[in-house]
Amino acid sequence: MEQDVVILAIESSCDETAASVVRNGREVLSNVISSQIDIHTLYGGVVPEIASRKHTERIDQVVMEALKEAKMTWDDITAIAVTYGPGLVGALLVGVSYAKALAWALHKPLIGVHHIEGHISANYIENTELEPPFMCLVVSGGHSHLVKVADYGKYEILGRTRDDAAGEAFDKVARVIGLGYPGGPKIDKVSYEGNPSAIDFPRPKFADNEYDFSFSGLKSAVLNYLNQLQMKGEDYNQADVAASFQQAVVDVLVGHSMKALDQYGFKKFAIAGGVASNSHLRTAMEEACAKRGVEFFRPSPIFCTDNAAMIGVAAYYEYIAGLRSDWDLNAVPNLKLGER
Ligand code: KG4
Ligand code: ZN
Repeated sequence: MEQDVVILAIESSCDETAASVVRNGREVLSNVISSQIDIHTLYGGVVPEIASRKHTERIDQVVMEALKEAKMTWDDITAIAVTYGPGLVGALLVGVSYAKALAWALHKPLIGVHHIEGHISANYIENTELEPPFMCLVVSGGHSHLVKVADYGKYEILGRTRDDAAGEAFDKVARVIGLGYPGGPKIDKVSYEGNPSAIDFPRPKFADNEYDFSFSGLKSAVLNYLNQLQMKGEDYNQADVAASFQQAVVDVLVGHSMKALDQYGFKKFAIAGGVASNSHLRTAMEEACAKRGVEFFRPSPIFCTDNAAMIGVAAYYEYIAGLRSDWDLNAVPNLKLGER
């Protein structure tokens, strides 16, 4: 009988300190997430210095909890995995240093994982039948990528944002309409009370790459709309602005994804990243895929936002491909997908 590959994974690229134990790439034995949202909410967004300090305070407890919840001992662990980029450099360094020390002390292999590869891999957790090739839209607070997943670890980026990420736009718009941080879940909720066609916000396109995204113009359009009303002394309808903004984002994300599916003929499509937990986006993608006879995959919301289980899954495929990191593994804040 083949031996199990049990990976202990650590994620600390932004404001979640997370650890998870994953067996054979698909079975999540524990998934511990310590969110710092409450602290950063006081400042209206993530404060990098505070994020690093909180990771340092919490990482040991989070890792121990993940091991305990998985009912594992250190002897059962095959390898230690960690996110080493992209992300906030100080935050990444906490996880990377901790993972290196742990792997070295335990004489276990170390595997550095790309954060976006983790987000994509989150789809493997609950869809055990899902295998590449497929198309994936990754939309998070820092990234908006339309990616061809040719094989495990093999990616081709078709389109990316030229300015703000989709999640960033959600957070910024939520702030200006008084919903606060984090914006995504709040806009998602309040939109149910608004009219998505109330305001016609722009859906930008690029002539030189029809798969690229831009969200900063949309954010400016929302600001202009609010300013114009203010100058006239009129009030705005918060739910209508939220719903109309969200509809513009959803239309662009669905439009680009479906165009790519039609052009490249993939039969499977997945979404990933924090924004992939948006309920309106999930429904719209599901309907658009069903129309084309394309199978649609999305992780549960808890595996869409930052977590370490997704890092453990991605690390498993690196492990079985024979990939290992050296002791000089460093945090790489702008690490490109597919680079090592
Ligand atoms: O993947 P993630 O946890 O962190 C990054 O890697 O960036 O994504 C966080 C982003 C935030 O911008 C947050 O507002 C957004 O995901 N988000 C959502 C929703 N839940 C989280 N955006 C829209 N709708 C949601 N329900
Ligand atoms: Zn993320």
